[in-house]
Amino acid sequence: MEISPAELARVRADIPVLARCLFLNTGTLGPSPRPVTEAFLRAYTAWQDEGPGDPAHYQGRRAAIETARADLASLLGVAPDEVALTTNVTEALNCVLAGLPWRAGDEVVISDEEHPAIFVPALHLRRLGVRVRICPWERWGDGLSGYIGPRTRLLCASHVSSMTGRILPVAAVAEAAHRAGALLCLDGAQAVGQLAIDVPALGCDFYAFNAHKWLLAPVGSAGLVVRPQASDALTPVWVGAGSGEVAYAEDGELALAPGARRFEFATRNWAIGDGISAAVAYARAIGLERIAARQRALSGALAARLADIPGASVLGGGETGIATAALRGHDGPEVQAALAAQGIITRPVRERGAVRFSCAYFNTEDEIARAAAAMAAI
Ligand SMILES: Cc1ncc(COP(=O)(O)O)c(C=O)c1O
Repeated sequence: MEISPAELARVRADIPVLARCLFLNTGTLGPSPRPVTEAFLRAYTAWQDEGPGDPAHYQGRRAAIETARADLASLLGVAPDEVALTTNVTEALNCVLAGLPWRAGDEVVISDEEHPAIFVPALHLRRLGVRVRICPWERWGDGLSGYIGPRTRLLCASHVSSMTGRILPVAAVAEAAHRAGALLCLDGAQAVGQLAIDVPALGCDFYAFNAHKWLLAPVGSAGLVVRPQASDALTPVWVGAGSGEVAYAEDGELALAPGARRFEFATRNWAIGDGISAAVAYARAIGLERIAARQRALSGALAARLADIPGASVLGGGETGIATAALRGHDGPEVQAALAAQGIITRPVRERGAVRFSCAYFNTEDEIARAAAAMAAI
C-alpha cells in the first residue's frame, strides 16, 4: 500500500527543514522527525538535570543503549550480541579493515565507487604491505574473479553506491568471496533506512552501517554487525573500559567482552539510544518496504525527467532513493551551488562530475518536478 497523502503530510509536518528548502540530501545526513529529536533531547536533558555522573542515572541510559542495540539488531535480522554501536560508519569499517590479521602480500578488493570511509582505511593498509585491488562497480558480480586471487583476504564495498544509488549484487559477491576463502564486508551507509535488510540473508561477514542518514536518527548513530562465523577473524584494535573484563595485576587476564561489544569502550553520548529507538520506531510505523518503494519511484521519476534534458547524462536512479546526473559543460560543485542558490539542497559527486539527488520518502512529486526544472534551467 502506498504512503497516503495524509501520512505524507503528517511526516512532513514532523520535519521542519522541509518548510525552509527543497531538501534532497538525506544521503549526506537525514533530517530527524520531531519525535526522534524530542526523544533524544528528553534523554539528554534528563541526563544533565539528574546528574551526568550519577550511577543510578547512568544505569537508565545504558539500558536505553541496550534497547537501541536490540532495535537495530531486529531491524537488520541479527542478534543484539552481533551489533557494536559506533559513532559513524567509518569507525565501524575501520574495526574491520584494521582488525584483520594482515600479512605482507595479502590483498583487499574494493570498488571504484567507494566513499573515503573505505578508500582511506584500505589504502592505509599499504603500510603493512597489503595490496589494494580496485574492481570497477560494473564488474562486481561475474567480473570479480579477475580481481580475486589466493592472497585475497577481504572484499569490501558499499551495499548501495553513494555515487549512483545502485545496489551491489550481494549474493553473487558473497558467493565469490567465500569460494575464494575471503571475507565480505558491506558498507550499509546508504542502505539502512532505504531497504528492508536481512543481514544473514545477504551472506556477508561484516555489515557496517549508520542510522543518521536514511533512518533519520540523531547524528552519531551507527554500528557494526559482526556475524558469528567471522568474529574470531577480527581483533579489536582500540579497546578500553567496557571492551572486556580485566584483572588488575601484571600477569592479569584481559577477557574481551563476548560478541561485538568488545568494539565499544569509554564515554559515549549516552542519550543517543533513545534517539535511535525512536528513529527505528518511526520508520517501522511507516514500513521499510513502503519507504523503499516510494523512494525508488521518486528517484526513478526524477531520473526520467533528467534524461530528457539536452546535455544531461543520468548515472543512476530508480534502484534506491538516489538519482545522479551530470550536465555537460558544468562540474558537480557548480551544479550543486546553482541548485543551492534556488534553495535546492543536493550533494556534488566530484569523482563523476555530477550531482546527487537523495529522494527520501518524505519528498513530494512536486519537489521532484521542481528539481528537474531547475536542472533544465541550468
Ligand atoms: C557509502 C558511504 N560510506 C560511508 C559514509 C560515511 O559515513 P559516516 O560519516 O557515518 O562515517 C558515507 C557518507 O556519506 C557513505 O555514503
